[in-house]
Amino acid sequence: MRASLIDGKALSAEVLADVEQQVSALIEQGNAAPCLAVVLVGEDPASQVYVRNKLLKCEQTGIRSIEHKLDVDTSEAELLTLLAQLNGDASVNGILVQLPLPKHIDEQKVICAIDPRKDVDGFHPENMGLLLSGAKEVLVPCTPLGCLIMLQKTLGDQLSGKHVVVVGRSNIVGKPAALLTLQQHCTVTIVHSRTAEIEALCRQADILIVAVGRAEMVTADWVKPGAVVLDVGINRIERDGKFRLVGDVAFDQVAEVASAITPVPGGVGPMTIACLLRNTLQAYRNQTA
Ligand code: GUN
Repeated sequence: MRASLIDGKALSAEVLADVEQQVSALIEQGNAAPCLAVVLVGEDPASQVYVRNKLLKCEQTGIRSIEHKLDVDTSEAELLTLLAQLNGDASVNGILVQLPLPKHIDEQKVICAIDPRKDVDGFHPENMGLLLSGAKEVLVPCTPLGCLIMLQKTLGDQLSGKHVVVVGRSNIVGKPAALLTLQQHCTVTIVHSRTAEIEALCRQADILIVAVGRAEMVTADWVKPGAVVLDVGINRIERDGKFRLVGDVAFDQVAEVASAITPVPGGVGPMTIACLLRNTLQAYRNQTA
């Protein structure tokens, strides 16, 4: 393998240690610990795992957490009532509603019902708008924030001027990843399922950020030699009679071409959770400033 590994586990541990240290300083000064409310509707197994991991990391960093587990047939009105209650509770600094929600609930309506100052996912239109306008201390979506930290660690001051190609245009990853790298003076291209010549565009990238949700879609011939590749995908596939987790990038072959690459698992995933806790602390500081 030619590429070096970008170790999301190690880097997320650094982010978490920093959060933990700041939280313990706040508590030593006599403040209440920051508090995150996590809302899970239904019993989707992947969501249950994600929520459990988020709550564990809260405990590890000293952030207080409150879990609200709601039945799969909770009505939209009931969920909105809970959110109004959490918005009005001054002891709650961050609110996260785990997605996806059951089909009968309008996701966008729910996202808009969270107080933007407590929106630790950074999905509220007000926070998306602030990110677009380049404001500081905005709550930005956790996965692209994790990607940016990884790029800063890998490239240092070499990030400016690089050509970033973002594969995928979701509100959760693709669009904010493009905006965050643009803010760092990168030249940014977004490509997606309708893009003509998608492989040729990807081959121009100094940095390739892939978030499409299709197992091993990006192969070595899509990648410029020496490029940095961040793989946001987590796909469960069956191979040789066994279930495995793979990314959106064909890791083994792309690692022969890239200069640095994130593994799956152990790459972007742990950074997402670490950034959630960083955002919770940020929300707390914004509220107490
Ligand atoms: N489901 C998958 N990713 C996310 C995320 O970043 N935040 C929330 N709330 N739900 C998700």
